[in-house]
Amino acid sequence: MKRRQFLQAAGAVGAGLSVGFPNIWIKDSSLAYAADGEIKVGVLFSLTGTTAIVEESLNKATLMAIDEINAAGGVNGMKLVPVVEDPASDPATFADKARKLVVGDKCVSVFGSYTSASRKAVLPVFERRNNLYWYPTLYEGRECSKNVIYTGAVPNQQQDEFIPWLIEQFGKKFFLIGSNYIYPKEENNYCKTLLEKYGAEVVNEEYVPLGHSEFSSVINKIKSTQPNVIFSTVVGDSVVALHRQYRAAGLDPEKMPMASLTTSEVEVAAMGGEAAAGHFTSAPYFMVHESPENEKFVEAYKSRYGADAVTHFVSEPSYFQVYLFKQALEKIGSAGDITPENIREAVKGQEMIAPQGNVKIDPKNLHTYLWPKIAVAKSDGQFEVLKDSSEWLEPDPYAAYSNQACMEDGLKET
Ligand code: ACM
Repeated sequence: MKRRQFLQAAGAVGAGLSVGFPNIWIKDSSLAYAADGEIKVGVLFSLTGTTAIVEESLNKATLMAIDEINAAGGVNGMKLVPVVEDPASDPATFADKARKLVVGDKCVSVFGSYTSASRKAVLPVFERRNNLYWYPTLYEGRECSKNVIYTGAVPNQQQDEFIPWLIEQFGKKFFLIGSNYIYPKEENNYCKTLLEKYGAEVVNEEYVPLGHSEFSSVINKIKSTQPNVIFSTVVGDSVVALHRQYRAAGLDPEKMPMASLTTSEVEVAAMGGEAAAGHFTSAPYFMVHESPENEKFVEAYKSRYGADAVTHFVSEPSYFQVYLFKQALEKIGSAGDITPENIREAVKGQEMIAPQGNVKIDPKNLHTYLWPKIAVAKSDGQFEVLKDSSEWLEPDPYAAYSNQACMEDGLKET
């Protein structure tokens, strides 16, 4: 039952009762999203399992933003109350926990997920209850849901600059290696479109199971096909194994580098700078980015989580999306009007200066304008940015599907 229908029904019962009983006013606090000066939000990142290597840091960045907002007075005097769940890198558990957060805890929004497999698993929960999921991770696009705010990069924002740059620097033979699920496959579809456009070729395309840690057969295929670039969309713990085994096999990043959309400072910290050095990543944020907002973000993160803690291109959107959420609540104003539906309307077109630069939610498709960069990993665990954008790049979640577009009223054939 919708809130308005419930209130109408309650009103009808009250009117009937008033014949023989005094009018009793029942406070409808069980249905309100903002009650007693608090607004509950879900935090759904894996603290265990194969993608905990990344997701733990997303949980940390989210909680840091929530605490900062509360310490600065909250939102219109109300406190954000995080409800944290650990979905254990398992899509089915993600769906169960999402249901608990939305239905049981009555969170007005949930911040969560690294893998697209887990986002796909929770999507029906949010669509069925018309709730909102804030997803900070780079992903494959080809999704047009009014129940997700997408603050990570889509393929055009990571690949449009990167692929021609790689071809120019290293050559035209690409070996595609990814984890075996929807994200790497769709991301590689877009990669293949670009390779064709620039007259380059795929010498092999390999997928390994999530959590895979034995890359000797992949490395043998790399040796036998001699690509110019190894294009990687491997995720989680496997990123560490792939880099270490590449190094141990005596391959040389100067001759045959890996070019990744998923290797950030946090995976580099786990594998060690030596294994990462010389490989490339394209992303809208690197920890070394110079801006006052990033200096503040990095300093706060280190002082909270330790001098060795690193920020990266998924933890940064995990952080700034909580501030966009706050801006949306402030735009709504009255606590009684805080609903997922009103937040969605209020967040359209919201802008802020994030650590990476000025970002904006595209009102058409709820994705984010971001600042693509190309960087090389160094042995000290940081990246050196080699190419920065001079302006933000519009998100095009259907870049690989030129006959489709995500518009305000849904997916359209163009
Ligand atoms: C991802 O699965 N979107 C990294």
